[in-house]
Amino acid sequence: MARIYTLVNQKGGVGKTTTAINMGAYLGYYGQRVLLVDLDPQANATSCLGVEKRAVKSGTYEVLIGATPLGAQILHNPRFKLSLLPSSPALAGAEVELVDMAKRETRLRDALEPAKDRYDYILIDCPPSLSLLTINGLVAATHGVLIPVQCEYLALEGLGMLTQTLNRVQAAMFPDLKVRGVVLTMYDGRTKLAMDVVKEVRRFFPDQVFQTIIPRSIRLAEAPSYGQPISIYAPDSNAARAYMALAGEVLGQDGIKIPTLEET
Ligand SMILES: Nc1ncnc2c1ncn2[C@@H]1O[C@H](COP(=O)(O)OP(=O)(O)OP(=O)(O)O)[C@@H](O)[C@H]1O
Ligand SMILES: [Mg+2]
Repeated sequence: MARIYTLVNQKGGVGKTTTAINMGAYLGYYGQRVLLVDLDPQANATSCLGVEKRAVKSGTYEVLIGATPLGAQILHNPRFKLSLLPSSPALAGAEVELVDMAKRETRLRDALEPAKDRYDYILIDCPPSLSLLTINGLVAATHGVLIPVQCEYLALEGLGMLTQTLNRVQAAMFPDLKVRGVVLTMYDGRTKLAMDVVKEVRRFFPDQVFQTIIPRSIRLAEAPSYGQPISIYAPDSNAARAYMALAGEVLGQDGIKIPTLEET
């Protein structure tokens, strides 16, 4: 049964998409069957994996509004060890269309039901908002949310509001919703600020912050323009090692044995 994790932070540009793609690719590298769901009308996860978003005929939007069942839209990339439910600009319309639909908050959860026994991990990449799309992402997160936080000034800004939203969704529709973990991203070890932010975030989320910290890396910023995850674009980089370690940390906490080098 798949573990479904949703990457959420209404703050933009904190590393949600980068983490979904690269942690996902390393979970795949470690032998897990991984589905990445692009729930953002910006379709960054889709583009970053080399799929032209305007050419997507059927994707997250069609699945959400119930035009087609989940299945044929999924693009599997054996080289990346990732499957993708792509997004397209059409998804922006879903926000408005969903409002009048029945079960508007649980549509993604219901749509993903048949995929649960075909994957080990389903990662849902949310847009930078606390919209109905994000609510769908939260309600689908059977095993919790992953919150990327950028190690920069004002890192904690907005986390209070995010926590409130999580509490509200938990109270109103999904009592089992939990924070699976906080991922510190774009860490620059040369600055005192970055070190201070790490301490501050660990104080704000005691025991919920992953040990692995993702460094700021030019390679990570470059990989999307080649349409590749870091595991393919620059597997020997520090950033690749960091995402590999993060995937390992998640697997370890989930009680899944990490295969040895010969087994991968
Ligand atoms: N560790 C890193 N080092 C350097 N650049 C990074 C790193 N992580 C992400 N980036 C770059 O920062 C930008 C924002 O990252 P990303 O798209 O993952 O954030 P996001 O939270 O998904 O943004 P949005 O809220 O718009 O969806 C991208 O250009 C990405 O390539
Ligand atoms: Mg994104």
